Amino acid sequence: MKNLLLTLFLMLIIFPMSACTGDDDNLQTEEEQTETDPIDPNSKILIAYFSWGGTTQQIAENISTLTGGTLFRIETVNPYPTEYTPCTVVAKEERDNGIHPELKSVVENMAEYDIIFVGCPVWWHTAPMAIWSFLESEGYDFSGKTIIPFCTYQATYRDETLAKIVELTPNSKHRKGFGTTDRNSDVAPWLKEIGIINSQK
Ligand SMILES: Cc1cc2nc3c(=O)[nH]c(=O)nc-3n(C[C@H](O)[C@H](O)[C@H](O)COP(=O)(O)O)c2cc1C
Repeated sequence: MKNLLLTLFLMLIIFPMSACTGDDDNLQTEEEQTETDPIDPNSKILIAYFSWGGTTQQIAENISTLTGGTLFRIETVNPYPTEYTPCTVVAKEERDNGIHPELKSVVENMAEYDIIFVGCPVWWHTAPMAIWSFLESEGYDFSGKTIIPFCTYQATYRDETLAKIVELTPNSKHRKGFGTTDRNSDVAPWLKEIGIINSQK
């Protein structure tokens, strides 16, 4: 009886935790569509990412190496504090007040790109507001383009962050996103699965 109660208790604790954190690999969120058809080899690829500590940048670079896509770093005019806690304070203030930080530079030739990977760390359960600034920028028209989200995170809210990028690009097509806690994650299996790189590679 004691064992049964202990098992039930552990199930109650562990299940919600694992549902929250998930495994360290790619996943399908409900909001995403599951296009896996091979892409047109002439597609032009952009990898736009925001990264504060370098983890997301590493993933973005790996995607670029495998796809030949162009990297674009999303940077704010006012840099975030370099210390963790002050950074979390600014990030929360922006999120809570819907502040769209001004971005340093623009992708001049956005119209030329067919596929845009959009990546970021999870900040306060969602994407950093710089991603809002980028995706809601009046200078870009993402309609008809394929947007592919990716994110890095410490423990939680991967799904919500990938889904947010999808939600912010309602007129685009989407392919399954990728989220990881490990800067050395192999992105090749995911890129093959979603038809971006050849499965022979
Ligand atoms: C302001 C801030 C908020 C964060 N919020 C979360 C969070 O809600 N969930 C989580 O799992 N990780 C959170 N993290 C951890 C980052 O998502 C994680 O370390 C990420 O890989 C960092 O990527 P980067 O090195 O590209 O900045 C947060 C980090 C910072 C700085």
